[in-house]
Amino acid sequence: MIIVLFGKPGAGKGTQAPLLAEALGVKTLATGDVLRAAVREGTPRGLEAKGYMDRGDLVPDAVILAIVKEALEGPDYRDGAILDGVVRTVPQAEGLATALQELGRQVDAVLCFDIENEEIVRRLAGRTVCERCQTPYTNAAVGDPCSRPGCGGRLVRRKDDEPDAIRRRLEVYEAQTAPVFDWYQQHGTRVLQIDAVGGVDEVTRRARQALGR
Ligand code: AP5
Repeated sequence: MIIVLFGKPGAGKGTQAPLLAEALGVKTLATGDVLRAAVREGTPRGLEAKGYMDRGDLVPDAVILAIVKEALEGPDYRDGAILDGVVRTVPQAEGLATALQELGRQVDAVLCFDIENEEIVRRLAGRTVCERCQTPYTNAAVGDPCSRPGCGGRLVRRKDDEPDAIRRRLEVYEAQTAPVFDWYQQHGTRVLQIDAVGGVDEVTRRARQALGR
């Protein structure tokens, strides 16, 4: 089962991805996490991506599609995948469809998390993330230990959670990512809209109910 998690920055994709992955027995692939790891490690891909990410712009489609193809061809995603933030432009939706077709697979559903911009700004202003496993937190301070068992990482603020970058990410979402929703509908993919406001467990319950799993 291949599920695309779709929605504005801060909608809760990264929070819901591991919960849904556990429920469905598949792994998550989050391009944001892959890119941040590449930036930390100083790889050529990370060096190319860093400027775009810090400003809140999208990393070029070719970089994203290379990451996604590499991952989906490997053994980790043979049983399915929760794709978190992977599809943000129409060319990415087309490229993913082609890559999956070559593997005899397809996107089974798009979960679109609905949320207003005011709530996004409130959430991102209060977010910290684990520098190691990237788990997002609310109401936790920079420097606190990550509470995921065995992680041992510390919490940091993301550069793109500064007010200017949040504003830019929301503009980029409207201009380049929102059209992906129509693309999937026009191509007959099951698109499921989920109210993303409410407790984390409640949002997971809504998503699972919509998927029928
Ligand atoms: P990425 O890391 O994917 O960031 P994003 O899409 O902007 O999404 P976020 O991680 O900010 O938010 P989220 O929806 O995961 O919300 P979260 O669960 O953390 O991408 C970063 C950058 O990488 C991009 O800007 C771009 O440069 C590049 N990139 C990545 N993929 C790309 C692609 N495909 N193409 C091009 N460039 C790409 O939740 C947010 C906060 O809210 C947290 O504090 C959380 O604890 C809290 N929260 C979550 N759920 C709830 C709830 N139900 N109630 C209250 N609070 C909640």
